[in-house]
Amino acid sequence: MNISLQQVSATEVSTPLLAIGIFEDTLAGAGDAAAVDAQLGGVIGQLVADKEVTGKQNELTVIHTHGKIPAQRVCIVGLGKQANFTTDTVRQAAAVVAKRAGEKHITQYATVLLGLDQAGVAPEEIACAIVEGALLGLYKYERFKKPNDEEGAKVGSLTIVCPKNSGVADAARRGIGRGEVLSGATNLARDLSNGPPNLVTPAYLAETAQSVAQRLGLGCEVFDVDELRRRKMGAILAVGAGSVHPPCLVVMRYQGAPSSDKVFAAVGKGITFDSGGLDIKPGDSMLTMKHDMSGAAAVIGFVQAVAELKLPVNVMGLICAAENMLSENAYRPSDIITTYNGKTIEIGSTDAEGRLVLADGLAYAVEQKASVIVDLATLTGACIVALGTIASGVLGNNDSLLSQVEKAAQETGERVWRLPLWKEYGEQMKSEIADLKNVGGRWGGAITAAYFLQQFVGDVPWVHVDIAGTAYISPADQPYYPKDRPYLSHGATGVGVRLLADVVKQWAGVK
Ligand code: BES
Ligand code: MN
Ligand code: ZN
Repeated sequence: MNISLQQVSATEVSTPLLAIGIFEDTLAGAGDAAAVDAQLGGVIGQLVADKEVTGKQNELTVIHTHGKIPAQRVCIVGLGKQANFTTDTVRQAAAVVAKRAGEKHITQYATVLLGLDQAGVAPEEIACAIVEGALLGLYKYERFKKPNDEEGAKVGSLTIVCPKNSGVADAARRGIGRGEVLSGATNLARDLSNGPPNLVTPAYLAETAQSVAQRLGLGCEVFDVDELRRRKMGAILAVGAGSVHPPCLVVMRYQGAPSSDKVFAAVGKGITFDSGGLDIKPGDSMLTMKHDMSGAAAVIGFVQAVAELKLPVNVMGLICAAENMLSENAYRPSDIITTYNGKTIEIGSTDAEGRLVLADGLAYAVEQKASVIVDLATLTGACIVALGTIASGVLGNNDSLLSQVEKAAQETGERVWRLPLWKEYGEQMKSEIADLKNVGGRWGGAITAAYFLQQFVGDVPWVHVDIAGTAYISPADQPYYPKDRPYLSHGATGVGVRLLADVVKQWAGVK
């Protein structure tokens, strides 16, 4: 989509559809609404008086202007209570507007900077959130579906209307650029996660990482099975052993601060299909398991975003890729495997495979002298039991890194909730015959899984983000899915990309 900035007043912009905002409690028009209303002879004021327009969050009212202003239609979008206004309000409003334009086959539309001049939200953030709302809201996975005639033309252009103030215009331009990068990276992660598992294999993840790296001049190494054997990465090898699609570990490197030796490592679970292995999953639970590589997809998107934004930081992205299948070569319950850092693990269940591939990836990050590590993984059903689909679980060994992740969650709308990681939980992971077991019984499953991961990070500051509930919206969950996230749609959400991009900026002290 072509996104441009136009310095013009809302009453003068020529467009098929112009979006303006209105607050619920004050009924104040946000960003030029009053000027538009005056030109339209007070029709918006009348709709408000008749309670036809209430300003409730994401409410949409479209009126035709009959030539009273150059905009053919005005779309009034509710911004909710003025005191609750945040960037997420804008992201949501921008998404409902973009989707409405799409439904009506309006291929070009314009919007004012919704809520401009509201305390706490800078023009750059508003512009960024408008772009994110539009690009994330309009996303569809269409690779395998032939276009049908009824769908009609797509939204191809968005104009952001900006007052004739050079300070605001410069800020808005920066916000647009950032919004495009972050949405593009999120939608890349969505494409990978939505891709069918016969296409998105470990090799496909590696090729995608390589093509991103090549385009942006990043380092990228792929450890294939021979290399994994040579390096004794026994956990990734064990999980991938049952599949005809061989496992691999992909290492992406972006050096935005060459004079610094600090490195931010992001590690992603990349199980391209989780059948459960010999501890096979029942059919219903297997149905969404193509998404079990969403953590890895988000890591690729995150590295792409950081490089495109040219952030002055060093980032290492690790993709722990394997397919968890059954065959005569598959690893078994009761096997004992040896991970990259030498710890031995008794396999209690072949379905607890994510923590295994991450073990090798985390140990490698530590060996490579990562300064901090954040991992993203669709790790446990238990995390969904605890938090549902509304928030990712976060656990870690470092309070300040955890706080940065929580702050990032507020900024990006990708909510997280902290779970404890007391050492007592470790009792459940003890094995009689190996250093650790990979399962610890039913209770506290999200926590015992994180406890397992912690055994591989040494004393490097680390946060684990369990995205099992937030990485995708399954058809079964859709009816219950909160309506307040209009920039998410059925299928992969791309969660983690925008979250980590915010964390890394905080960590490096980048404005
Ligand atoms: N990929 C699953 C976790 C999962 C479940 C993600 C549902 C998204 C939706 C993971 O590999 C798994 O199978 N975990 C097991 C662990 C158990 C065997 C200890 C689980 O959660 O049941
Ligand atoms: Mn599993
Ligand atoms: Zn899994």
